[in-house]
Formats: sequence, structure tokens, C-alpha cells
Amino acid sequence: MTSPSPAELDDAYRQVAQYYTQKLRRYGPTPLGVDWSCVPTQALRFRKLLKLCDFEGPFSLNDLGCGYGALLDYLALYHPQTPVDYLGIDLSAGMVRRAKKRCAGDLIRFHHGRESPRAADYSIASGIFNVMLDQPVAVWEHLIETTLFHLSATSRKGFAVNFVHQPIYGETGKSGLYCTNPRRWASFCEQRLGSEVRLIDDYGTSEFTILVKPMRALSNK
Ligand SMILES: C[S@@+](CC[C@H](N)C(=O)[O-])C[C@H]1O[C@@H](n2cnc3c(N)ncnc32)[C@H](O)[C@@H]1O
Repeated sequence: MTSPSPAELDDAYRQVAQYYTQKLRRYGPTPLGVDWSCVPTQALRFRKLLKLCDFEGPFSLNDLGCGYGALLDYLALYHPQTPVDYLGIDLSAGMVRRAKKRCAGDLIRFHHGRESPRAADYSIASGIFNVMLDQPVAVWEHLIETTLFHLSATSRKGFAVNFVHQPIYGETGKSGLYCTNPRRWASFCEQRLGSEVRLIDDYGTSEFTILVKPMRALSNK
């Protein structure tokens, strides 16, 4: 399989940014504005992803695909005692503008782009691999691999991402949605990133979460 050209990747990112910008225009800074159905399931995803982090002390966090900054609402509600040096990154300039308007604080910053300009203790990415629109799967999976390499390189203590499960036998997947098998990406992180992986696949949604840490860091948690 040949790698997609830089132009194909740029086009994929551009289309995804446009898709989410339109959602935001239509629904505003709400779960529907980032293509989630409601606050409880949006928060459930955060809860699973944040199992990565040790809230006993301060840490830095990159939130790749931050949308309008809903993770900050979650942190303020459930972890107000822990100082988090937060950077939200998003492909959609509209999302970043809205996030800056909603969320302010000494430890809060946002960046418009597809990658984080800084390394942090942890990174999370909620929902960034789901909407692939009409990209060929090979292009989308290349983009996922590139993003996982980037997350690994910029996360000192680990990162966490989620995916939509592939449909069970007999079901048909939703068009434009990337669905996958947990082993596909757990093996990638173990073998290509040399990391330890914990799979969380028990929260009653059609999604799963993987926590990825440098070798041997997961065993004590
Ligand atoms: C499903 S929404 C989730 C937003 C937020 N994480 C939440 O849970 O509320 C996905 C967001 O990720 C952004 N996004 C998708 N791929 C991205 C990438 N490679 N880099 C940065 N942002 C990305 C989209 O623009 C969109 O705002």
C-alpha cells in the first residue's frame, strides 16, 4: 500500500475541519455542535480517557481535537482540586475561537492546528478518528497512524484515544464513520510505538478507549 500524498492528507484534514465548523455553526457550543448526542455520554468518554492521569498532583495536558473546550467543564466539575496546565488543539478555527471565548484562565491555552506545538505529561483525544467522511480507509488509517506517532512523541506519561467499534455481524456501519477493531490499534501502539496499552471496552457504548503509556508505566495503576 502506498502512502497518501501530502495533498490527500491536507484535503482530508480540510474536509474534517469544515464538517465540524458547520456543526458548530448549526448547534453552537453544545454536544451536538461537536457531533455528540448529549452531555452524559460526552462526559463518560472524558471519564474513561482521564483514567490515564494521576490527579494526585498537578500535570500538563494536551487535548487534541478539543472542540469548544468541553473537557475544561468536566475538569472544573470533577477535579477542581488539581491544577492542570491545559492546551486545547483543534483543526477548526471556529472551534478554537469559540473555546477561547468560553474558557479563560492562567493555565488554559488553545492552538489552531492538527498537532500540538508542545509536549505535555499527558494527551487525550476524544472523537477525532470517527468522522472520516468519504476518505478512502487507507488515507484515514494513515492519518490515524501519523496522529498516534505524534501523540506518543508529545506525551511524556502517556496518551488516551477512543474509537467506534466495528459493527457486530449483520449490522451495517454508518456511512462516513470509521469503525474498527480494538486489537488493530492496540497492536499498533504496542508494536510500532513500543508502548503498553490498556483497553477499556466495558462502558456500554459502541465505542472503546485505549490508554497508551511508555513501557512498564501502566502496570502500577
Ligand atoms: C467529535 S469532536 C469532539 C470534541 C471534544 N473532544 C469533545 O469531546 O467535546 C472532534 C473534534 O476534533 C477536531 N479534530 C478532528 N481531527 C483532528 C486533528 N487531527 N487535530 C486536531 N483536531 C481535530 C474536530 O475539529 C472536532 O472539533
